[in-house]
Amino acid sequence: MIEFKDVKKIYPNGTVALNGVDLKIADGEFVFIVGESGAGKTTLMKLLLREEKISGGNLTVRVNRQVGNKNSLVEYDLSKLSNFKVPYYRRELGVVFQDFRLFPNKTVFENVAFAMQVVGESSKVIKRRVPALLNIVNLTDKMNSYPNQLSGGEQQRVALARALANNPQIIIADEPTGNIDPKMSLEIMNLLIKIHKRGKTVIVVTHEKDLVDYFKQRVVKIQDGKVISDQVGGMKL
Ligand SMILES: Nc1ncnc2c1ncn2[C@@H]1O[C@H](COP(=O)(O)OP(=O)(O)OP(=O)(O)O)[C@@H](O)[C@H]1O
Ligand SMILES: [Mg+2]
Repeated sequence: MIEFKDVKKIYPNGTVALNGVDLKIADGEFVFIVGESGAGKTTLMKLLLREEKISGGNLTVRVNRQVGNKNSLVEYDLSKLSNFKVPYYRRELGVVFQDFRLFPNKTVFENVAFAMQVVGESSKVIKRRVPALLNIVNLTDKMNSYPNQLSGGEQQRVALARALANNPQIIIADEPTGNIDPKMSLEIMNLLIKIHKRGKTVIVVTHEKDLVDYFKQRVVKIQDGKVISDQVGGMKL
């Protein structure tokens, strides 16, 4: 569960980016975050990623982690999380950016594998899991290609496979379709829905009104650093 309670974010130059956000996202939910440019959407994601610290209020992230056949509940209070714990916290999240952020000198396989290598996964597990992940995003046939040999939509699918690599409970995507054409955008959104249906919490920031209307999911609208509406398929929550 993710809970923003009266969260404020004031940047060092004095800009009030978030001004009292209250927002609760349950495990396994799918949420679109919408709002005009400058509303505070990316700031909201940065706080969640702990790229920025909150200036006031509370932000708590609770994840159910499965280790072997045991379930344990881990709680992160992001106003108190110390810097050295941040890398551990980030492993709970899978992130997709507008500009893909793939390594140009690594193949598709290596890009996904790298995310697992950095957390110390064994090569045996990596060899088994990477093809399975590429299968989810329909890219098995591009395993040995380099990013510059792929379309934007394909690159974003690699980024999605990479976000899933360490099996996080929460997936965050900030305008994942901002750099790709409409047909591919629909495909990326469909994949995000598929990931949600596999039980993940998925948060997607987007400007694409047509896609938001089409999928009929929860839509949280941000304006001037506040949540101004929270609806599912046109129904007010
Ligand atoms: N590092 C920063 N320092 C100062 N102000 C910032 C910083 N980052 C963002 N802002 C300001 O905070 C406000 C919210 O920005 P944010 O990037 O969260 O908006 P957004 O909703 O993601 O917009 P867009 O749709 O254009 O991506 C804006 O007024 C912006 O100028
Ligand atoms: Mg933004």
